[in-house]
Amino acid sequence: MPEAPKERTLVLVKPDGVRRGLVGEVVTRLERKGLTIVAARMVRLTRPIAETHYAEHRGKPFYGELVEYITSAPVLALAVEGRSAITVVRALVGATDPAKAAPGTLRGDLALAMTSNLVHASDSPASAERELALHFHDKDFVRYTRTDAEYV
Ligand code: CMP
Repeated sequence: MPEAPKERTLVLVKPDGVRRGLVGEVVTRLERKGLTIVAARMVRLTRPIAETHYAEHRGKPFYGELVEYITSAPVLALAVEGRSAITVVRALVGATDPAKAAPGTLRGDLALAMTSNLVHASDSPASAERELALHFHDKDFVRYTRTDAEYV
């Protein structure tokens, strides 16, 4: 069977992950899976960027708290590449509600609250494209081959 195509997706280590010192844990799990980090940026999101990022949630009861929270401290924005990366990263991250996320996932192991749920990951190819363009410029993406590329 042919390999699934390579995809690129956006991951944000949210303010709780940064402030709890869990950036390394998130990056480690992505790397150990065999995914390639092709851009990284530590940044405090502005309100307009946060509102654009979460535009699909505008009007929902949790929207205000979500924007306040995501702008409250820096995030680590990552562009992550690999076979089926969008689906694979969502599986590594786990269910949106950490109380329901499976053990072994990032949220299942390391988070408990819905708003401060450690990590954001794009949920579809269209979201990945939109979110990557919001957080990165074309020149931010690097190209390299992992030394274990033949296995992953
Ligand atoms: P994230 O994957 O970043 O996408 C939207 C975020 O909204 C989600 O993670 C949660 O942090 C937050 N959120 C808060 N309340 C809810 C809710 N009831 N349903 C979905 N997402 C919620």
